Amino acid sequence: MTQVQENVPELMRALVTREVGSEPIMDIADVPVPKWRPGYSLIRVKAASINQLSNTIRKGGFGHTPVPLIQGNDGAGTIVTSERYPAGTRVSAIGGNTFGITEDGMFAEYALIPDGLVTPISANLKWSEAGAFGINFLTAYGAIQRAGGVSAGQNVLITGATGGVGNALVQTVSALGAKPIAVVSTEKKAEYLRDSGIITIDLSTDNVVEKVSELTDSLGVTLVLDPVGGPLFPELQRSLSRQGTLVSIGFTAGNTPQVDLLDLIAGDKRILGYSVNDESESWVSEGLAAIADLAERGLLKPRIDSTVTLANFEEGYARLISRRAVGSIVAMID
Ligand SMILES: NC(=O)c1ccc[n+]([C@@H]2O[C@H](COP(=O)([O-])OP(=O)(O)OC[C@H]3O[C@@H](n4cnc5c(N)ncnc54)[C@H](OP(=O)(O)O)[C@@H]3O)[C@@H](O)[C@H]2O)c1
Repeated sequence: MTQVQENVPELMRALVTREVGSEPIMDIADVPVPKWRPGYSLIRVKAASINQLSNTIRKGGFGHTPVPLIQGNDGAGTIVTSERYPAGTRVSAIGGNTFGITEDGMFAEYALIPDGLVTPISANLKWSEAGAFGINFLTAYGAIQRAGGVSAGQNVLITGATGGVGNALVQTVSALGAKPIAVVSTEKKAEYLRDSGIITIDLSTDNVVEKVSELTDSLGVTLVLDPVGGPLFPELQRSLSRQGTLVSIGFTAGNTPQVDLLDLIAGDKRILGYSVNDESESWVSEGLAAIADLAERGLLKPRIDSTVTLANFEEGYARLISRRAVGSIVAMID
């Protein structure tokens, strides 16, 4: 069904990245609303996540970034024009490996996204929650598949467990019947997880290898899901059981960790990488539908640390890199 693009203004407010680098130049400007075309959905964006990817891009850490660019690779809103969804449908959308990276994304009142990267989203989620849903939970879902799935009762060690991806991993592992063991760096973060009934290792007081050994009768975990990397990596590797698998998803703490090859070889362990941006559009479409269903059933809900307005984006990024956030940071777009 083709919807007519009516009541759409010529211009919209957008956060435009003018220059990337250590001191990026970004400002709010009036720019043309994208024109709908077949195969795409025009969305009135309500919320978009302020995440590590967009921060890396604006800081010039993502190869060639064409500017001016509207960033924002993850968000939610309502359908304006689409062949696939009726106008007014609440949707979550991700940018795949282009939108918000090399083509205009969701830090704007309107965004034009391929139909396959859009999915209807549960009314259980507030706009702020829906705005941090797509990338985080799709990454979690894909990383678990990359490891071959999880089984009921399986212990799964998860780092950065109050971060956007980490918290999605904790919730998705639980939703699939396995047992997350969360790793966080502060008592405040540990408290939030323990209050939700999650077994938690607090790096400010605990040693990861010892704690994992204690929790697993000295066997280690068969799976580690790691969005953090950095100096903790060797401890994560040592926490694996024989023939265990570590899936590396991100590197907020550093991308050149030490790998103990003797432990890797003698323990017959596997270290895998995972990137959601390399998934096909058809996989993304199916994956988005699967996680949207889990959200509809009340099993997945992004934890939101704080919201900012689009104009206050710097406040959002400052919070993101502070390492104090408990949950995702979302820009609300009225
Ligand atoms: N592979 C993929 O497909 C994919 C998809 C999305 C995101 N990612 C990547 O996954 C990583 C995590 O993303 P996210 O959205 O979960 O980020 P986030 O919300 O900022 O969480 C990152 C976590 O990393 C930990 N951390 C350790 N050192 C840090 C530092 N110096 N600064 C900030 N945080 C630090 C923090 O937990 P503690 O303080 O508790 O240690 C924090 O909660 C990023 O590298 C991102 O680019 C990958």
